[in-house]
Amino acid sequence: MGMNVLVTGSSGLIGSEAVAFYDGAGHEVVGVDNNMRAVFFGPRGDTSWNLERLKKSTSHFSHRHLDIRDREALFALFREQRFDLIVHCAAQPSHDKAKDIPLQDFEVNALGTVNLLEATRQFCPEAVFVHMSTNKVYGDAPNELPLEETETRYDYARPEHAHGIAEDFRIDRTLHSLFGASKTAADIMAQEYGRYFGLKVGVFRGGCLTGPSHSGVELHGFLNYLVKVAVSGETYTVFGYKGKQVRDNIHSHDVIQAFEAFRQAPRPGEVYNLGGGRENSCSILEAIARVEALTGRRMKWRYDEHNRVGDHICYISDLRKLKSHYPGFALTRSLDGILQELVVAESRRLAALS
Ligand SMILES: NC(=O)c1ccc[n+]([C@@H]2O[C@H](COP(=O)([O-])OP(=O)(O)OC[C@H]3O[C@@H](n4cnc5c(N)ncnc54)[C@H](O)[C@@H]3O)[C@@H](O)[C@H]2O)c1
Repeated sequence: MGMNVLVTGSSGLIGSEAVAFYDGAGHEVVGVDNNMRAVFFGPRGDTSWNLERLKKSTSHFSHRHLDIRDREALFALFREQRFDLIVHCAAQPSHDKAKDIPLQDFEVNALGTVNLLEATRQFCPEAVFVHMSTNKVYGDAPNELPLEETETRYDYARPEHAHGIAEDFRIDRTLHSLFGASKTAADIMAQEYGRYFGLKVGVFRGGCLTGPSHSGVELHGFLNYLVKVAVSGETYTVFGYKGKQVRDNIHSHDVIQAFEAFRQAPRPGEVYNLGGGRENSCSILEAIARVEALTGRRMKWRYDEHNRVGDHICYISDLRKLKSHYPGFALTRSLDGILQELVVAESRRLAALS
């Protein structure tokens, strides 16, 4: 049976992947996005190219230029249509940006999420609700784990931490950044709607999410932005930790596979870490070296010794809970495969502009 799917943040990286996936599977998809990424990050964050791409490539997709902070408009949409699945990806997504716009950040991330949860409770309580959260809910607490330093990266020093950060890692008494705090508020409310009201809410705490549909900017979109800079010949800035800070990278395609696994067998109020795990982890130095090998060119970069406030020195998502609840889920895109795809996509985009 065809579903009616609502995707928020539908012109962004994860939202657009969700639109393409559910549209391709024959479902009706309504996308909500007000292109606020361009307000946050300027022209480079503009997602309208991605919306145009979706309009051309989909057959059951309609777009609403709607702000998730606008409760009236959102509730009107929920009155008009009954959704079976809500994939909530709209956000102010940047750690660093939040300090300049604390009120907007909180309104979009926390209040916008509650608006959607409450609309779901009132108008379609049977729906599955996927909430995209972040590993920044753990703040900088992962930095307290003993680390070892190799030539190119930091890593966990103790074997018991080798699998990375699990969902029972503490989320308070830690420096989150304002973004991490607003997303933690949203994460807790989403869990609460699952546990208290029994809604079929799943909370996914993302590591580094990536793919060619990202409108990558310096303040958000690690690999996409790095490849963009490498291909265009601009200069990349590495902030602190000698460039040895480690992120785990997951392709947007695999993110949607995790959502879909949850949709098919939802567990109300559950939380899952969702990143590339150890196999798809790299430091910034390692990412630069891999991109240089792919492009055959040296990348220009400079070092700023000030690390980003609250930045993780080594973050690897422990995927064991997700894999044990959903044994069919596995990563399908390797780090090298992801980088290759990003280099090809960026080279094409640049060629189209010139
Ligand atoms: N990309 C990552 O590395 C990463 C990592 C961890 C968690 N996340 C989370 O995943 C989710 C999706 O991230 P993404 O990378 O796709 O971000 P993105 O910025 O590419 O997409 C978000 C979309 O939401 C839209 N939006 C913002 N505010 C809105 C509002 N008030 N009303 C309607 N639309 C609005 C933006 O215009 C944008 O198109 C976010 O919740 C983010 O915090 C992302």
